[in-house]
Amino acid sequence: MSDGWRRARVPAFAKLNLSLRVLPLRPDGYHELRTVFQTISLADTLDIAFLPGRKTSVQVESNVEIADNIVSRAARLCLKALRAHGRLELRLEKKIPLGAGLGGGSSDAAAVLLSLPVLVGRPISLDSLIGMGADLGSDVPFFLLGGAALGVGRGTELYPLPDVKPLPALVVAPDIHISTAEAYRALDRLGLTTEEPQNKINRFQSWAWGGVWDGGGNDFEAVAFPQFPRLKVLKGRLQKLGAKPARMTGSGSALFGIFRTRDELTRATQSFREENVYPISLVSRVRYRSAWWRRLQAHIDDKLWPPQSRYAR
Ligand code: C5P
Repeated sequence: MSDGWRRARVPAFAKLNLSLRVLPLRPDGYHELRTVFQTISLADTLDIAFLPGRKTSVQVESNVEIADNIVSRAARLCLKALRAHGRLELRLEKKIPLGAGLGGGSSDAAAVLLSLPVLVGRPISLDSLIGMGADLGSDVPFFLLGGAALGVGRGTELYPLPDVKPLPALVVAPDIHISTAEAYRALDRLGLTTEEPQNKINRFQSWAWGGVWDGGGNDFEAVAFPQFPRLKVLKGRLQKLGAKPARMTGSGSALFGIFRTRDELTRATQSFREENVYPISLVSRVRYRSAWWRRLQAHIDDKLWPPQSRYAR
């Protein structure tokens, strides 16, 4: 017998920025970006339960304290868009380190946007979800797609890229919290966002067209490395162990190294024993979508969720 509650347990995968180039500040207060996002197997878990009713309440619990609760904001925004009312209970099991550039909070918010319409029984278009995601944060819309995607504009304009192999990688997450807004301001102060934007775009394009493993970079390293020299040392260690590329993700502080074999990853994991490390693999869009579909299939009768981008091949 059903008690009326609709429940699901869904994953919220982390992301890496395989390359991240920051262009000048725009009139809307955001910087123009060129980036390639990639989902990885490191994930939070969200338990979501919805009971339709006349009154709306949203309750969020988590194993760690989250200050700015993007998850409850996502829930309220989504319920409003769905014109749905009822009790919503969310429980978040956080594994993705906070303030590390791994997109943990953004992915949690996207997990709400992807699962709530299904539990309410009113799937909505990807464009509406992307609009809500962009209201919540620049990295949120990417997590509605997963896999590898090119991000332009403030990071919310997305073009899916062909899936890559599930290569092994190591994420090193030192205990350093970096504020994204502060990192952007520091980049501006250094004058690094105004240098030859056209050249930056050209270099980014040729990197993205040439396959994403050689070259590329993260402009935030120029801010984070002088401030936290340990990060540069950790990157050097990843490179010596054969990682290609080895670099920081987002505005930091986490670093990643991508390897070609499991043996290389095992060796790297052992040599970083004293650090907070996560051996992971890259998660393709096919795997991302099927993880989602498996968790929500009890509530849907076709394979059309999550909705596909019109650019997806
Ligand atoms: O969109 P989100 O809330 O994640 O952004 C946090 C802050 O990072 C913004 O307030 C803005 O200062 C900065 N930002 C930016 N350009 C972007 C994305 C974020 O300047 N493309």
